[in-house]
Amino acid sequence: MQSTATMPTSEAVPTPASPDKRYFDLMAYITSNTVAGEIMAVENYSEMVPLMPSTDAKIDTVKQAFEEAKHIRMLSSLGKRLDYEVKDRIVEPQWLAIRKHFSAAVAKRDLAACLIIQDIMTETMAIVLYRMLQRDTDPVTRETAAAILKDEELHLQMGIDRLAGMLEADREAVHDALIWAHHRVMPELFSMVSTSCHSLCDELQVDCGGIGLDSIRTDIEALRVEALDTYMESLDRVGFDVRVTTPLIASMSSYGAVPSADLRLRATDDGAACGATDAARCC
Ligand SMILES: [Fe+2]
Ligand SMILES: [Fe+2]
Repeated sequence: MQSTATMPTSEAVPTPASPDKRYFDLMAYITSNTVAGEIMAVENYSEMVPLMPSTDAKIDTVKQAFEEAKHIRMLSSLGKRLDYEVKDRIVEPQWLAIRKHFSAAVAKRDLAACLIIQDIMTETMAIVLYRMLQRDTDPVTRETAAAILKDEELHLQMGIDRLAGMLEADREAVHDALIWAHHRVMPELFSMVSTSCHSLCDELQVDCGGIGLDSIRTDIEALRVEALDTYMESLDRVGFDVRVTTPLIASMSSYGAVPSADLRLRATDDGAACGATDAARCC
């Protein structure tokens, strides 16, 4: 978007000839893929309920699933208001891969891995996404993203609080769960910080090569740095050991992600932690 004055509004009705078509194609792509993430979240939270240790925690988890369902409705309504198509099912295969890993964690009754995958990893990426959707987008998108962001920040905080308690009880098991989940889920999540897709653009009938984040004044590299920084911050807030998290963060460079100022990576130089290559073997 060039300026606020040219931003589409809720009254805008884009047409194929509209100068805003590229913007709306991008929004159709982002919103559809975000709905897919929300659908995955509904399923993850629902599947996690029986693992929760108390009735209060089960009720809170059901509430989280309900809030993700509400986000699906809000995003669908956003597409209707701005007149672009929003898919109401998962199209991109990464979400299905993450679901599969989550189900594997449920099958082994690894609640820490479930919380790490959904409350920490997925919610952190959701927060980065909903923050991005408030930068240089239209007023309706900004309003929707701001409302959803509040819920996602609470979900992240709930996960941080739960995991901090579990970490106190059994540091080794929770760190093992982090390593297990990181190598399976983070590459899938990061592969979606991209404007290329498997088949979503085809399904939406938008030009896969033509959509670009530059239409909302951001770029993939900046977004990847922000995503990795925010992920690192979330891990720190839980209280994970930097000797474990440092090689995990370093391993993300093989997926094209490098944090903006990761002083901890220097720890790998003096042997305090294993490096990126070793991290790949840690799982
Ligand atoms: Fe959500
Ligand atoms: Fe959430």
